[in-house]
Amino acid sequence: MRVLGIAGSPRRGGNTDLLLAEVMRGAASSGAEVKTITLNEMTIAPCQHCDGCLETGRCKVEDDMQMVHTELMKADRLVLASPVYFMGVTAQTKAMIDRCQALWVRKYILKLPASGSRQVERKGLFISVGGTKSANLFQPAVATVKSWFRTLDVSYAGELLFPGVDEKGAIAKHPDALHQAFLAGQGLVE
Ligand SMILES: Cc1cc2nc3c(=O)[nH]c(=O)nc-3n(C[C@H](O)[C@H](O)[C@H](O)COP(=O)(O)O)c2cc1C
Repeated sequence: MRVLGIAGSPRRGGNTDLLLAEVMRGAASSGAEVKTITLNEMTIAPCQHCDGCLETGRCKVEDDMQMVHTELMKADRLVLASPVYFMGVTAQTKAMIDRCQALWVRKYILKLPASGSRQVERKGLFISVGGTKSANLFQPAVATVKSWFRTLDVSYAGELLFPGVDEKGAIAKHPDALHQAFLAGQGLVE
């Protein structure tokens, strides 16, 4: 089972990074093949709505997103980690999601499977933290991620959402967040 982790925060070693690492460790401990990509280290231009993907389901913009598309289609499990930025996901994460318009075309226009030729049930997990405890803190980000998962034929199988976590690495002081993340990684692949 292949698990793809996507780190959406620009802060290396930050809160969502730590949670993602534990999820991936949990998944690996249950025998999964794991791979993590860090969006901030990639060149992923925002979608230009050029409609270049309309006939082929392939994005015409040649940058690192081509590799991400391949990884997204190969994965059996997806783990997306993004902190809340102005009530949504980070710009890095949203650029990656918007570039999946080409996969939206594959699914809804070309009627092609989102996971290549395989007929596996795909599941996904969303990890997020926010510095405040605002009402509905995660609601917009969760809506975005659910919409993205649906396009990829990935079921929204779980979430790890921690409000009130702001300083870099503060999640490590939470009584059991990292343990919850490890268990969620195990559970995702069992
Ligand atoms: C540009 C920016 C926007 C942010 N917007 C919000 C917000 O809308 N609500 C909130 O609770 N925290 C917000 N935060 C705080 C982050 O969510 C918080 O620091 C989080 O722990 C960062 O996670 P990371 O360590 O994984 O990068 C924002 C931080 C930045 C830099």
